[in-house]
Amino acid sequence: MLKDKVAFVTGSTRGIGWAVARTFAQQGANLFLNGVSDQAHLDSCAGQIRSEFGVECSGFLADVCDPTSVKRCYTEIFKRYKRLDVLVNNAGILDDALLGMIPDAAINRTIQVNTVGPIYHLQEAARLMSRNKSGSIINISSIIGRVGNEGQAVYGASKAALIGLTLSAAKELAPKNIRVNAVAPGFIGTDMVKQLPPAKYDERVRSIKMGRVGEAQDVANAVLFLASDLSTYVTGQVLGVDGGMLI
Ligand SMILES: NC(=O)c1ccc[n+]([C@@H]2O[C@H](COP(=O)([O-])OP(=O)(O)OC[C@H]3O[C@@H](n4cnc5c(N)ncnc54)[C@H](OP(=O)(O)O)[C@@H]3O)[C@@H](O)[C@H]2O)c1
Repeated sequence: MLKDKVAFVTGSTRGIGWAVARTFAQQGANLFLNGVSDQAHLDSCAGQIRSEFGVECSGFLADVCDPTSVKRCYTEIFKRYKRLDVLVNNAGILDDALLGMIPDAAINRTIQVNTVGPIYHLQEAARLMSRNKSGSIINISSIIGRVGNEGQAVYGASKAALIGLTLSAAKELAPKNIRVNAVAPGFIGTDMVKQLPPAKYDERVRSIKMGRVGEAQDVANAVLFLASDLSTYVTGQVLGVDGGMLI
């Protein structure tokens, strides 16, 4: 479904991003991975994808909220392929705290990583995609950006902002045949949710109508749909992948 396409997945060394990257590679995409903390692990992820799927794959160790590093990624992509077909704005962090107790540093870092970083990436990707008048950008938002949750005011704000970003960018980029959609996962069993206290974890699981925690692959399948030509007439949408948490 993505044979010979060029795709960039931010935050793809673990969790949902890693599942998306593997799914894209399985469908024939040449890939750029990204992480922020561990060059050796990033290199090993890229090597694993190359040997398992036979596609081209390399990684950028780059903080999504550092504009200079972000620009460098796109300069590299341009040098190598002269184009980009798919961007998945997936990198994100969670730092829960109740109102009145949220440190400034946590507010700033969460908004920077979850909102500002994706804006930097979207701008650079759109510039590159405009050259070929084609592309698909998928922003990984969250169910919390749609319905909120106690203790998650900043995270919710950062993820709701991604929905606003998606809608505006979809309108602006549609004439260039660049589609922009969001995926809003519910409760997915990655490192991010494993850090929750057990009582919170159990409470969240009880709120899932389908009765099970989502898997990173559940999200990757939805992202694949939005990245591929199966969705050529779909833009400006928010696709929930949440086992019925929202209904
Ligand atoms: N899990 C859920 O239930 C859930 C639900 C709704 C939405 N989401 C969203 O889905 C996305 C992925 O979540 P996940 O659960 O897969 O998270 P995760 O397992 O914690 O993985 C996060 C990934 O993002 C990377 N990352 C973090 N900060 C970064 C930065 N500043 N610059 C570049 N990369 C950075 C990490 O890289 P390193 O390995 O180098 O640290 C890692 O690859 C996030 O945007 C999250 O908000 C998750």
